[in-house]
Amino acid sequence: MPSGSPILEMARRAAEQRAQGRHIVDLTLGEPDFAPPDHVIAAAREAAGRVLGYNPANGLPELRRAVLHAHERDRGLEYTDAEVAVGCGAKQVIFNAFFATLWPGDEVIVPAPYWASYPDMVRPCGGLPVVVDCPAESGFRLTAHALQAAITARTRWVVLNAPGNPSGATYSHEELAVLAEVLRPHPAVTILSDEIYAHIRYGDQEYVSLAQIAPDLRERILLVDGVSKAYAMTGWRVGWGLGPSDLVRRITAVQTQNCTQTAAVSQLAAVAALEGTQEVLAQRRAVYRRRRDAALAILRQSRHLDTVAPDGAFYLFPRLATGDDLAVADALLEAGCATVPGSAFGAPGHLRLSFATGITTLEAGCRTVVDVLNKAAS
Ligand SMILES: Cc1ncc(COP(=O)(O)O)c(C=O)c1O
Repeated sequence: MPSGSPILEMARRAAEQRAQGRHIVDLTLGEPDFAPPDHVIAAAREAAGRVLGYNPANGLPELRRAVLHAHERDRGLEYTDAEVAVGCGAKQVIFNAFFATLWPGDEVIVPAPYWASYPDMVRPCGGLPVVVDCPAESGFRLTAHALQAAITARTRWVVLNAPGNPSGATYSHEELAVLAEVLRPHPAVTILSDEIYAHIRYGDQEYVSLAQIAPDLRERILLVDGVSKAYAMTGWRVGWGLGPSDLVRRITAVQTQNCTQTAAVSQLAAVAALEGTQEVLAQRRAVYRRRRDAALAILRQSRHLDTVAPDGAFYLFPRLATGDDLAVADALLEAGCATVPGSAFGAPGHLRLSFATGITTLEAGCRTVVDVLNKAAS
């Protein structure tokens, strides 16, 4: 059984305290606080009047076309229709992929800190998460050496998530090329490249995807993305995977027997997001960057925290100089700020603060973090 999401558990505790009348600054959820663009809402309204029945499990043809076009436009990657799997969010595509391919005892390499769902999805599919520690000293990135050491004859998948949740870390062209070098001699290993935060980046470097750098590994890469984060459409539940047609067929077979398809109205809204103006991406990136910098300026005033500036996504992942992250998160909630302890991401001794929230709220939350840690140390 997967354990419940620790992130949702913290958010639930925050909501419970609010319901009791307490003022709580909630920095738990990885959910953009923007609305989807207006043209997306308009497309959904229009679709609601006409797409009423069941549709193909693997997505409407117009969405599949839009996904292919967007990946060619944004990443220079060309895939065919048979290489796209559409699901209820990136999460379902990942789950379906694990469910379709894992046998008892198969190993899945999960670099930590990780999105809490990876191990929780691997286990009920019969797999064994092999957690590889990627500390702040390595920029929270998987190194060639650590990857090499973790691969065994039972390795079936390696998870790569960049920009990463919770670390925000991205990989350079060279770093990905070195990882590809390690993966090349292991044909049984498939790579899950979770690129759900690809559009939320702060550096000047152009985005690079493993599939671009190692075209010879294309048949072993499942690139996962969706509209949730980039277009602020978390609740619409549209995500996709791009990869070898055989894997896509297996993912679709699982999809047909769980929820059949994601809602057609959402799919047509996602088409509008992908095909409409992309200006919103740069505008929101600028807003996130301002928030990131404002939060960093406060957190870095504390001697009790070490905070790496994230390259992407919308989380800060400071390391605590001392103290147990679970106890600190509890103390912070007590003081009115909800965060998620790093243990939820396989990285005890850290806290995750989401900056997908208004700047005033964010600054108030960060000040509480600094104050609570200062008091605890005095
Ligand atoms: C790394 C990562 N992958 C996937 C997802 C899920 O995205 P979706 O809403 O498309 O299921 C999330 C959501 O938090 C995430 O952080």
